[in-house]
Amino acid sequence: MKTVQDYIRTIVDFPHEGIMFRDVTTLFADPRGFRIAIDQMLHPYAGLQIDKVVGLEARGFILGGAIAHQLSKGFVPIRKKGKLPGKTISEAYTLEYGEAIVEIHDDAIQPGEKVLVVDDLLATGGTAEAGIKLIKRLGGEIISTSFIIDLPDLGGRARLEAMGVEVNALCAYE
Ligand code: PRP
Ligand code: ADE
Repeated sequence: MKTVQDYIRTIVDFPHEGIMFRDVTTLFADPRGFRIAIDQMLHPYAGLQIDKVVGLEARGFILGGAIAHQLSKGFVPIRKKGKLPGKTISEAYTLEYGEAIVEIHDDAIQPGEKVLVVDDLLATGGTAEAGIKLIKRLGGEIISTSFIIDLPDLGGRARLEAMGVEVNALCAYE
């Protein structure tokens, strides 16, 4: 029986030399791969109250949309700067290979709402930390973060756990 990791493809030197890019499009494209990934991501949250699912651009939208649908909850995107049409708040961050700014609509999370943050991959944790800061600034409570892939050598898990945030990931690449 294939595991989630068996559906993930590695592209060497993308987008820059020295990066081993963990490509989940092969997992998304496979009906069994996509289903087991979503089922396994949902598993830790059975019976927990979650009010909103937040997805981090771009692959977090695909996973977060499926998870929100399964939980019958709303989905909220955190997007790269300049993409959201309404009034936003923003946070700058650095990642494994660059810098960026992420934004959320300032009315997307209500104070006290319990939020699950979803993305495909946790590397340095810069993207997730920026997303968490945005959600907290709107008064949201982070219930947990859920990823398909953890790259523990890049420190993201330790960084989020040091903030008191739970991290769940389906697999890791050392
Ligand atoms: C990737 C990945 C995460 C982020 C993780 O996205 O999907 O969002 O990097 O890196 P970090 O833990 O070091 O912040 P990317 O920045 O490549 O953007 P994209 O999904 O829009 O292509
Ligand atoms: N984002 C940051 N590092 C990455 C990697 N190695 N593979 C895929 N996405 C990433």
